[in-house]
Amino acid sequence: TIDNIPSINAPKILKPLYAEKGITEPSPDVKKLAKDHHLIQHQEGGYFNETDRSSFLMENPSYPGHNDGTKLANVTRTGDFQNEPILPHPTDSTKKITPTRNYSTLIHYLITCESPLGRLHMNEARIIHILQKGRGQYVLVYPDGTIKSFVVGFNTDKGEVNQWVVPGGVYKASFLLPLDSDDQAHESSKDHLLISEVVVPGFEYDGHTFARKDDLVKLVGNEKANELSWLLGG
Ligand code: GUN
Repeated sequence: TIDNIPSINAPKILKPLYAEKGITEPSPDVKKLAKDHHLIQHQEGGYFNETDRSSFLMENPSYPGHNDGTKLANVTRTGDFQNEPILPHPTDSTKKITPTRNYSTLIHYLITCESPLGRLHMNEARIIHILQKGRGQYVLVYPDGTIKSFVVGFNTDKGEVNQWVVPGGVYKASFLLPLDSDDQAHESSKDHLLISEVVVPGFEYDGHTFARKDDLVKLVGNEKANELSWLLGG
């Protein structure tokens, strides 16, 4: 396939129940983590800080007319990733796609018991994710309706991954799992997931699209979309 997502390590997709259990106040350690990294609320849920943005500008490969799906501006794609979708399918046609992009951006992204879900969305660019601390779960929904789910964590002996790549044009959601157990009953105020995300070309809002219920229904059908609708957030 077009990513490095493991096919073992495919956990069930279960909603974290922090709010329902009254666990909404992160532990002092988790609060300190957010403060030390200067994190602010992210529109997807969770917290983030952009820590780097290249000052070099390139053509936006997703800009209409900048590519034919196989060639980026003066760059030929080779290897396993050459069939990666590069044109997302924005549902918001009012968005004006800008013709340039910074070469790269870098963020920290944190989810906690207070905000345990990164809502389902897609970016035009592929995103490299590197685990810094904690543990969590990702769900990806591909343009052909394939759903992938995997745990990110440091227990590599259990198939958890500490770096992963989400292709452009693929919907992703992230949410918390307990740090020290597979049992959702052990959710605690200490649970958190801190990652770094490298985006190439760099992040822009006009390349970012939240999934709506009808997008999900189109991709995976009614039944599955109902099952996963909590990933859209409230
Ligand atoms: N600004 C708002 N959201 C984001 C994001 O996900 N990445 C970057 N780099 N900047 C943002």
